[in-house]
Amino acid sequence: MKQPLEIAKDIYQVGVADWNIRDFHGYSTHRGTTYNAFLILDDKITLVDTVKHDFTDQLLSNISRIVDPKNIDYVVSNHTEMDHSGSLPRVMHAIGEDKPVFCSKMGVKNLSSHFERKLNYQAVKDLGELSLGRKKLTFLETRMIHWPDSMFTYLNEDRILFSSDGFGQHYAGPARFDDEGDDHEIMYQARKYYANILLLYSPLIARLLEKVGAMGLPIDMICPDHGVIWRKDPGRIIEAYSRWSQGPTENKAVVVYDTMWKSTKVMAEAIADGIAAQGVTALPVHIRSSDRSEIMTEIFDAKAVVVGSPTLNNQLFPSVADVLSYMKGLKPMHKIGAAFGSYGWSGEAVKLITRELEEMKFELLDEGLKVQYVPNGDKLKSCFDYGQNIGRKVKAALGA
Ligand code: FEO
Repeated sequence: MKQPLEIAKDIYQVGVADWNIRDFHGYSTHRGTTYNAFLILDDKITLVDTVKHDFTDQLLSNISRIVDPKNIDYVVSNHTEMDHSGSLPRVMHAIGEDKPVFCSKMGVKNLSSHFERKLNYQAVKDLGELSLGRKKLTFLETRMIHWPDSMFTYLNEDRILFSSDGFGQHYAGPARFDDEGDDHEIMYQARKYYANILLLYSPLIARLLEKVGAMGLPIDMICPDHGVIWRKDPGRIIEAYSRWSQGPTENKAVVVYDTMWKSTKVMAEAIADGIAAQGVTALPVHIRSSDRSEIMTEIFDAKAVVVGSPTLNNQLFPSVADVLSYMKGLKPMHKIGAAFGSYGWSGEAVKLITRELEEMKFELLDEGLKVQYVPNGDKLKSCFDYGQNIGRKVKAALGA
C-alpha cells in the first residue's frame, strides 16, 4: 500500500497494510488486512488512531513524510483493541507524552488497563466537540460496537466519518477505495466482517444507524480502521449494515456438518437436495473442509441452519461443537433450525444439537433426523423428505 495517501485536502491515510496475516485471532484473513490511521493537518495537527504494535516504525515513517511526529498536537483513539492502539505508547513517545489522547470514558479505563505508562488521556462525551482550528471534530459514542470503549469521530467540514471497526473489511488491497475495482471481494469481506465481529451487536447497530440518520449527518466519506475507504457511495455500506442488522435476508439454507464414515455426509447432501427441490438455495458445508469464519459468513444471511453430526463417545463430533459454540456467541437472529446425524448405537448428537439450537432461539423443525449406520434405501428418502420440509418452512417464513 503506497503511503501516505492524501484522501482529501490535508487529510492523509498513514496506516499500514498487513499483507501476510492469515489468522486474525481465529478469523481467516486470506486477503490480509490493514490498520488504518489518519492524519489531519490543521492548526492542531491530529492523528486519528494508531496501528498494531509490530507496525509502529512503519506508521511513524509514514507520518514523518508529512510532518515531524513531534509537531502532532492531538491523538484520537477510537478503540482500545490492540490492532489500533498497540503502537500508542511508542507513538506517544515520539509525539510527546504530554500531548492529549482523546477517547471515550471507557477508552480511558481500557487504555489505562492495557498500558502501564500513564498517558494524558482526555475523556470525551457523546457528541462532544473538539476544534482543530479551521475544522472541528465531533465524537459519537458507539459503546459495544464492538468494545465498551468504541467510538466514531466525525470531521464536520470534510463530512468524513472515522468509523473505527465499523464498516471495515479484512482486506489489504490492491484497492484502497471502494471505487477501485474488486467490488465483489470488498463487499464479501465487509459481509464477513459483519458476520464474525459485529453480528451479536445488531440491535445496537440498528439503533445507532437510526440515531445517525435522525441527526442528518452528511457523510461524503467513511474511513474505517480496516480495508478500503468508502468514498464513491458511503450510503451503500450504511444501507447494507441497516439490512444486515435486521437478520437473515436470503432464501437460503446452510447444511453444516461433519462426518466420520461419510454417512452424515450422505445425509447432508440428500437433505440439501430436498431443500433445493423446494426452490430454496441449499449449501452443504463440510466443517473440516471449511473455515469457521467462512462458515459463519454463509450462515449469516441464510434463513435456515441445518446442523449434522455423528455421535462420537456419546457426544457431538468435536468440530460440530466448535461451530455451534462459535455461532451461539454471535447470536444470529430469526433462524429456522434443524438437526440430523448418523449414529451407531447410542445417537445422542441430534438431541445435543437440538438443545444448542433451542438455546439460540431458532425456530426448530419438530424433531431431528437420526439414521443408524448407513443412510440407504428408505432412510435416504427420509433425508430428502426432511430437506423438503425444511425448504417448505423457509419459503413459508419468507412469504415466498
Ligand atoms: Fe480492529 Fe476491534 O479491532
